[in-house]
Amino acid sequence: MFDIHSHILPGIDDGSPDIAVSLEMARMAVANGVTVQACTPHILPGVYNNSGPQIRKAIAALQQILDQEGISLRLVTGADVHLVPDLVGGLRSGHLLTLADTRYVLVEPPHHLPPQRLVEQFFNIMVAGYHPVLTHPERLRWIETHYPLMEQLAHGGVWMQITASSLTGSFGRNPQKWAHRMLDEGLVHVIASDSHDARRRPPNLLEGFEFAARRVGEAEATHMVLTRPACILENNAPSTVPPPLAQAGHSEDSHEKHASRATGPSKPYRDDNGRPVAQAGAGGGLRGLLGGLRRYVSGKR
Ligand SMILES: [Fe+2]
Repeated sequence: MFDIHSHILPGIDDGSPDIAVSLEMARMAVANGVTVQACTPHILPGVYNNSGPQIRKAIAALQQILDQEGISLRLVTGADVHLVPDLVGGLRSGHLLTLADTRYVLVEPPHHLPPQRLVEQFFNIMVAGYHPVLTHPERLRWIETHYPLMEQLAHGGVWMQITASSLTGSFGRNPQKWAHRMLDEGLVHVIASDSHDARRRPPNLLEGFEFAARRVGEAEATHMVLTRPACILENNAPSTVPPPLAQAGHSEDSHEKHASRATGPSKPYRDDNGRPVAQAGAGGGLRGLLGGLRRYVSGKR
């Protein structure tokens, strides 16, 4: 598996405090079946004043130690890039980093309030030739009131990365609820560990994969930890890999199965009889949308 999000670099943000923890995290990642680990420390002006050149140096230093210790984990560059004005300028100057110097960039929106002009900001990133991967949407407080915005972004091409620990419930009930719903509705492109240490927020991608495999099937779960992360690391176009399950126009039967498993507030997604409606259009393509409309109409008779 390839893990595109971690805070394994020592002493650079709120992740690993020292080299001993970084080594423990690296060993745990390998035990999880991870062979490539993106090092993605926070870059948030005034809080985490990291920069591209500094992160590159820290990665080279850690890779050298991993090699000396015989830990077979390949580190690649990256950053947990907080959404700031002129993000594109920062990427172009090298102050901010994409994942493994590809077109793909991890973008973390603010946690507590939805930013102004969010869609426009993501649009600007894409117009500049980068491909944003929005980090842990399920953990953002404002998803409670702005879920359709996440759908809009995902349908507009923004890739969604959820965190393994959200699926398993380690972040509590709300992130788990939203992670499950996004998974069920085909809005999840990638699962990552977003590991910060070896205990509280450990490298646990395998657990995330196994959970997803039980929920959406092994093939789709594999796309989330292998196929799409590989696409990122090889800088291939997003169109070269399968879209998330519900966007692939799967059968009505499996669509019904997903609808029945969907959790979270049901109001915008169910008709008066509790049948799924807009949920079909949330990712099922034209076929799914038509199926949802058919169910809606028959429910009205
Ligand atoms: Fe992170």
